[in-house]
Amino acid sequence: MSPLILDGKIASKALLDFLKPLVETLDPKLTVVQVGNDPASASYIKQKVKSCDSVGMRHEHRHLDENITIEELMEVIDGLNNDSDVTGFFVQLPLPAHLKSHEPDIIKAIDPMKDIDGFGAYNLGKVFLSKDFEHLPPATPSGIIRLLEHFDIEIAGKHAVVVGRSNTVGKPVAIMLLNRNATVTICHSKTADLAEQIKQADIVIAAVGKPKMITADMVKDGAVVVDVGIHRTDEGLSGDTDFEGLESKVSAISPVPGGVGPMTVASLIRNCVTAKERQMAIR
Ligand SMILES: NC(=O)c1ccc[n+]([C@@H]2O[C@H](COP(=O)([O-])OP(=O)(O)OC[C@H]3O[C@@H](n4cnc5c(N)ncnc54)[C@H](OP(=O)(O)O)[C@@H]3O)[C@@H](O)[C@H]2O)c1
Repeated sequence: MSPLILDGKIASKALLDFLKPLVETLDPKLTVVQVGNDPASASYIKQKVKSCDSVGMRHEHRHLDENITIEELMEVIDGLNNDSDVTGFFVQLPLPAHLKSHEPDIIKAIDPMKDIDGFGAYNLGKVFLSKDFEHLPPATPSGIIRLLEHFDIEIAGKHAVVVGRSNTVGKPVAIMLLNRNATVTICHSKTADLAEQIKQADIVIAAVGKPKMITADMVKDGAVVVDVGIHRTDEGLSGDTDFEGLESKVSAISPVPGGVGPMTVASLIRNCVTAKERQMAIR
């Protein structure tokens, strides 16, 4: 039997449709900070701007020179933190080589109330408290959860295996699944017998960053698979799972492209709306 396709275009449209009237009422503004000309970053920013337009959200693109110094970038961040018209902003990653080691300081410098990516320690820490405190969660984990919820995939009581433990995807999605009463295993490059771990999973979240690494022999029959990976290969975009091989074995699977990607963008817009609501509540 064909699996349910966890179509992120459908689920993200539903989320954006829900957000549109809130954007109209609250009038938030998102600022995108881009340093340099990384082509993948330019493509992600284009998608984010397109989604802003689709809900009528005001946006601004600060495209900064490749050779900007850390001091100059910090000044831009400081300005955005203090600009009351800017609801939220993010600095598109990856940064040019000379700024890479400053990434933690850059994330730390963003006002937690405006941290639309949800990468800062304050917003990540709140995700650890409980579901009720997931105010500005990182956009990709939030999008993964929304994708599962949109297609009525039961999370409570299920065994979820998350492959990958990055601070932006693997760890936060594991905690968000735990917050929804899944039993969670987190795997990484030092996990002994990865296939054996994945075989226990009702839900597999593949955030490993290796093209087509998770194959049909590694998952149990009827599992739900969410593929977070994005890889540009000679044959086009592919994910972290072997979609074609898994199709006949799983009960549901997200495609690449058109799965988690659009959910990440829609979740970013949702965070901007939430940020505006919370800023207004404080004022
Ligand atoms: N669709 C979207 O919107 C979106 C958003 C963000 C990221 N992504 C994609 O999602 C993927 C993961 O992103 P990320 O930022 O989390 O990547 P990352 O920071 O590179 O983390 C990859 C994780 O996978 C683990 N890993 C690597 N090789 C492994 C192996 N052979 N067996 C088991 N675990 C292994 C690593 O373990 P260690 O910790 O031990 O090194 C690490 O925890 C990438 O393809 C990225 O492009 C997509």
